[in-house]
Amino acid sequence: MNAPQPGGGTFLTFEGIDGSGKSTQARLLADALRAEGRDVVLTREPGGSTGAEEIRRLVLEGEPDRWSAETEILLFTAARRDHMERTILPALAAGKVVICDRFADSTRMYQGLSRGDLRGLVDTLHDLMIGREPDMTLLIDMDPETGLQRALGRQGTEERFEDFGPELQQQMRAGFLALADDYDDRFRVIDGNRPVEVVAAEVFATATPAFA
Ligand code: ADP
Ligand code: TYD
Repeated sequence: MNAPQPGGGTFLTFEGIDGSGKSTQARLLADALRAEGRDVVLTREPGGSTGAEEIRRLVLEGEPDRWSAETEILLFTAARRDHMERTILPALAAGKVVICDRFADSTRMYQGLSRGDLRGLVDTLHDLMIGREPDMTLLIDMDPETGLQRALGRQGTEERFEDFGPELQQQMRAGFLALADDYDDRFRVIDGNRPVEVVAAEVFATATPAFA
């Protein structure tokens, strides 16, 4: 893509179903790496740049049928392209660690599976417009009932995807685990159904080789 080429930085992503503890673990990993003296950019999707945060409102707020499935894929991809150009690639080029809460694997799952089989379209657009995978992806695996209860504990306006229900959460969990098998060179699966500090310790130990 027409943006700075990634340099010596390290690109880590967190994935998993809603409420699995991604944001918590991303923040704790960023804190732990900063304590080691590393320069860390903690970011998220959809969002992570000014334009992409604007698109975040378009995709996460409003009625569930606000966008067609195809338009939704375009919007998520547009947000990611802006995030790559403005935030992720410049940080990697400067040798920083980028930790991103959700990335393209979320589009492969949510847009690729939940409204029909659109995975091919998601992958084609990714190849055309993004063209980069993380160095390591930490999948926080979680029992969907627990994840749903945790996620529903949060109140807010970002509700378009929040009425998924246990069945779709189960489908997403299975989908993420299958994706981890497909891309086993970069995926690491972490059991999220344990106390925060226990999960964080395993995340830190698991991520460390990414800097070797
Ligand atoms: P996600 O980003 O995957 O949606 P969050 O990190 O926002 O998940 O966590 C969702 C909720 O669950 C938050 O209220 C958080 O404090 C809580 N939480 C996160 N990890 C754990 C854990 N290991 N055990 C219990 N509660 C947790
Ligand atoms: P996020 O803020 O990470 O929510 P949570 O903390 O509940 O996991 O993401 C908001 C929603 O956006 C989430 O339900 C998943 C959805 N999403 C997609 O559908 N496609 C995508 O590509 C991304 C990045 C997120």
